[in-house]
Amino acid sequence: MTAELGCPRIDCSVVLVGLMGAGKSAIGRRLASRLGIPFVDADEEIESAAGCSISDIFEIHGEAAFRDGERRVIARLLSRPPHVLATGGGAFMDPETRTAIRACGISVWLRADLELLVSRVSRRNNRPLLAGGDPREILRRLMNERHPIYAEADVVVESRDGPHEQTVEAVLGALGAHVEAQRREAAPDSSSASIEA
Ligand code: S3P
Repeated sequence: MTAELGCPRIDCSVVLVGLMGAGKSAIGRRLASRLGIPFVDADEEIESAAGCSISDIFEIHGEAAFRDGERRVIARLLSRPPHVLATGGGAFMDPETRTAIRACGISVWLRADLELLVSRVSRRNNRPLLAGGDPREILRRLMNERHPIYAEADVVVESRDGPHEQTVEAVLGALGAHVEAQRREAAPDSSSASIEA
């Protein structure tokens, strides 16, 4: 697997965060292939570790047990070589998970407006948090609670209603700028040195 020409060179994992319907899995899959690194979906990993669906975990064991498993599975995934990791919408709300992501990855918040989220989540009914009420009202509440925390991500990219490739391009651009800023911070004199030379 090799990165496409012109894509930033990433030597740690890229972790996608954001609300249900933001496009973390769809964008993540395409992003991973552009960066030439594997794609991993945390929710799928949780399901295979538990041997049942997320809806069943919520129903049988409750949300607290799901969050516990989510924290452990994500910690394990973050120890793998660089990959693109799509996390479930609640994962970044956990302080331990945020710390682990900060330590070994670049976090990218895929921010989407309420209408887009509502239209995307209405295509499937596999999300237990949306099962007990009006998805629009639930998502509105979650936006209020979670957006201030998602805003702590290293990079923020607008997930737009259009071809996924557009959003992937925006993420690649933002990642490139982030990596370059980090490089400058680590070696503040390198650009002036090359000008002087
Ligand atoms: C959740 C989001 C879901 C899944 C679970 C809880 C949340 O993932 O992890 O149903 O708390 O927002 P997606 O964001 O991939 O739908």
